[in-house]
Amino acid sequence: MAVASSLSADRLPRHVAIVMDGNGRWAKKRFLPRVAGHKQGVNALRNTVQACLDRGVQVLTVFAFSSENWNRPVDEVSGLMELLAVALSREVPKLHQSGVQLYLPGDRASLSPRVQKALAQAEALTADNRRLVLNVCFNYGGRWDIAQAARRLVAEGREITEAALSETTALAHVGDPDLLIRTGGEMRISNFLLWQSAYTELVFTPCLWPDFDAQALDVALTEYASRERRFGQTSEQVASASGAAHA
Ligand code: IPE
Ligand code: IPE
Ligand code: MG
Repeated sequence: MAVASSLSADRLPRHVAIVMDGNGRWAKKRFLPRVAGHKQGVNALRNTVQACLDRGVQVLTVFAFSSENWNRPVDEVSGLMELLAVALSREVPKLHQSGVQLYLPGDRASLSPRVQKALAQAEALTADNRRLVLNVCFNYGGRWDIAQAARRLVAEGREITEAALSETTALAHVGDPDLLIRTGGEMRISNFLLWQSAYTELVFTPCLWPDFDAQALDVALTEYASRERRFGQTSEQVASASGAAHA
């Protein structure tokens, strides 16, 4: 909390994205099945959502299941599908009470009808909430997202421009992330927000996702606050623009 209180509001990212990685290793260290790590990961997500609400972050986008995670052992994949269904039924009422708008970007066609129905119901229930938008990317891939956006534009007979693609991707309702955190120590994007993270600040931490908490979030937020976002400009241009903005 101490770190958060030292962060000024204008240095807080509006949109935070997280690759929640390291569940399997967390479980392995404890001689537990991998799915136990995923279960503990749901608790870490619950705490992180609360920390984002407390700090005034407006959008949280997390990577829960990638297009490539289908390649995992069958029992782990079915465990993750089951966990999604259980977590939705347990967590959605609480999220709704907290003013969280839930959205699940990803390719739903290959999910079971039961899960598809639960996703649609959760989104409908929370659609009018405005405190925080929580995007749980499930069966999501950055390449899938760009391809599905291009396909839709073609089907509508529209020109494929950067602006048109931006407004057709699965994250168009929230804009691009300011900060992307990856837990678990790997330094790669693993097909997460390829289009949307063009100018996102990246923070990597060895912390395994089930161990992630408000304090770990504050470390990442502090790191973000120290970065200079230049968007292709020079440092001098950025400094004079921010001086003018504060004059
Ligand atoms: C991330 O944790 C969760 C998913 C990919 C579903 P992992 O399961 O990848 O954990 P590690 O990387 O094996 O530790
Ligand atoms: C990325 O983690 C996907 C999610 C966290 C959902 P992975 O564990 O699947 O990534 P790789 O395979 O190590 O790149
Ligand atoms: Mg992993």
